[in-house]
Amino acid sequence: MKSITLKGSNKLQGSVNVSGSKNAALPCISAALLTKKPVLLRNIPNISDVKMMIAILKDIGVDITYSRKTKEMRINSNDFDSELPKITSTIRGSTLLLGSILAINKEVIFYNFGGCDIGNRPIDIHLKGFRKLGVKSIKNKNKNVLESEKLKANKIKLRFPSVGATENLILIASKATGKTIIKNAAVEPEILDLINMLKKMGVTINCYLKTRQIMIKGMQNLKGVKHKIIPDRIEAGTYIIAGAITKSNIVIKSIISTYLTKFLEIIKKIGIEINVYDNKIHIFGKDNTTLNPIKVETNIYPGFPTDLQPILMTLLTQINGTSIIKENVWKDRFHHVKELKKMGAEITINKNIARIHGHTPLKGTNVICTNIRGGAALLIAAIKAKGESKLLNPKHILRGYENIFFKLKNLGVNLES
Ligand code: EPZ
Repeated sequence: MKSITLKGSNKLQGSVNVSGSKNAALPCISAALLTKKPVLLRNIPNISDVKMMIAILKDIGVDITYSRKTKEMRINSNDFDSELPKITSTIRGSTLLLGSILAINKEVIFYNFGGCDIGNRPIDIHLKGFRKLGVKSIKNKNKNVLESEKLKANKIKLRFPSVGATENLILIASKATGKTIIKNAAVEPEILDLINMLKKMGVTINCYLKTRQIMIKGMQNLKGVKHKIIPDRIEAGTYIIAGAITKSNIVIKSIISTYLTKFLEIIKKIGIEINVYDNKIHIFGKDNTTLNPIKVETNIYPGFPTDLQPILMTLLTQINGTSIIKENVWKDRFHHVKELKKMGAEITINKNIARIHGHTPLKGTNVICTNIRGGAALLIAAIKAKGESKLLNPKHILRGYENIFFKLKNLGVNLES
């Protein structure tokens, strides 16, 4: 699919069900490698990052099946290779296989990882933590080799609460003898979901949210598990903004609204009228509500999620006055700004601060998607814009949003994919 065409400015109607979380699915799929017993994962979204993970695991010899109908994934991992195929360089989420392969095979061979264009994607925090647990890294031409003869528990303090590094260290520590303590850990809901799965597999893990410390007591033989992953809070936030920007009356279902506290606080501060329930959100879409410009900073959980920054920015272009977004997590996460400006937005960037001068009517035009959330921001802008838009490279959006074009058409968006 090279592009999608969309005629904007319709109101949306009806309801949408949010799918399983991409960022919970990827670490939970990796955790399945830690046991030789059967693993059943439920609510796994049919998105291209999951398809890539399936291809990678099949390539290294893991027995893995997935049903797009039931969203169930079955993994029976016995022996598997330690060398990751080159395709791992296409998705960042495959970094999360390092911890599990190291824990089982005591070595892993990999190429440099890719993912979105939102700033370089180093793994120094992962590697520093691995070394604290006895892992050695060996440079061998263009391949990276990590070896861990004897994994030993240790105390690790992360210099930054990296989500992926926290997940990788939990995975590898689950098989290290003794108690590992991770300090300054990330505590995103997707990490808590991984912890819940590992606890069901027999790993003793205590997570102290206030101090962001995680204790993991490694186990030699882990049990098989049936685990349903949490819904995608970023997908939920995306549809909430689609409803807000078009002043539509829609319901977003199958969510865990407590995972969206900070985001919903901002939505209410802007003046969007919503009713929040435990597992759904109703947007009223009143035409006459005055919306207020705001200042928001992205941060680690439970702060405002960086993954909703591009999508919020689209909404802010429709609000009178100047709103400010400060991006504190990624160095270069404003690629969508250039494309939004093509549609009529007025946004100025200074280092990691974006000033959005609203409100500016958006007009349909050709725009280019370069990453998941930036692509979603352009999609929402096209839904709001007057006239026809063509989104190029929509494959980026499909990395993280299950059936998004079908779901949007169901809500009344005039879209040809
Ligand atoms: C996860 O990426 C998510 N991806 C990202 O979502 C999300 O934006 C990010 O966490 C922050 O919440 C998945 O879970 C698959 P980090 P991750 O390690 O783990 C720097 C999406 O759209 N850093 O928390 O890669 C890094 O450069 C994606 O769904 C180092 O410097 O993020 C960044 O500036 C996009 N060295 C910051 O930390 C390291 O070793 C946060 O990165 C690791 C990270």
